[in-house]
Amino acid sequence: MGIGYDAWKYLDLPHPLPKELKTFQEIKGNKHTAVATGGDIQFHIRSDEKSFAYDMAAEISSFMSPIADCTVEVQGFRYWDSRSILGFVDGTENPHGASREYFAVIDEQDPACKGGSYLFVQKYIHNLKSWNDLPIHEQEKVIGRSKANDIEMTDAEKPKNSHSALANVGDDLKVVRDNMPFGNVASNEMGTFFICYASTFSTVEKMLKQMFIGNPAGNYDRILDFSTAVTGAMFFVPSMDMLDKFSG
Ligand code: HEM
Repeated sequence: MGIGYDAWKYLDLPHPLPKELKTFQEIKGNKHTAVATGGDIQFHIRSDEKSFAYDMAAEISSFMSPIADCTVEVQGFRYWDSRSILGFVDGTENPHGASREYFAVIDEQDPACKGGSYLFVQKYIHNLKSWNDLPIHEQEKVIGRSKANDIEMTDAEKPKNSHSALANVGDDLKVVRDNMPFGNVASNEMGTFFICYASTFSTVEKMLKQMFIGNPAGNYDRILDFSTAVTGAMFFVPSMDMLDKFSG
């Protein structure tokens, strides 16, 4: 459960606030914008059994209905071998093993918030028609990896405006992603609910700036020509210990 900056203040939760908690501000490039749409509380419900996820969402919603509206709900699913709806495996370069905790969970850098995490979410809608019109070898240049077997291109092969070139901001700066594909053929709304956890929010901002503004400016991420961010918000996820203290 993530809590936004405004909600933290409104609920009068303890001070000082988590060091990097703020309201996410839009990041505007020449062509694409990472919009900021706000939100007070974000629940990330996971289950292999959909019934559990539904029951949990229904419980939370009925409990909170006197005081809160549910403004965005996305029901994602694991698509084949962890592919995004674009057909590429998503999550390969995520940190593994102990480094997941290192990159996702706050440690001594903010002792009052130890065990917590910054959560950033964006709902992306893909233009799958134009994506599927692109030959596979061109799609591979957009991602920077091969489609069928998920092999990274060499530095010489990888275009400078590919997603994996611009989202990579260095080996010391990583986040843990848990993106979920979603799709509705009737409304033709196909997308990716981008979800990431980070021990420092500045890392997420760095990635977004490289993607949307570009590096150098103007060399933006080509994945955005096929993907529109329609929401964007950041939250702080307290640890169970912190939640115990809040309830006290
Ligand atoms: C349109 C939504 C997005 C889609 C469909 C998408 C999909 C992908 C895919 C297929 C990969 C390659 C496999 C992998 O390593 O996971 C990847 C890599 C990555 N993505 Fe995304 N992504 C999206 C948005 C974002 C955003 C908004 C960020 C950061 C704020 C991000 C950060 C990363 C990072 C850090 C990598 C690994 C780069 C590397 O070190 O090679 N992605 N993404």
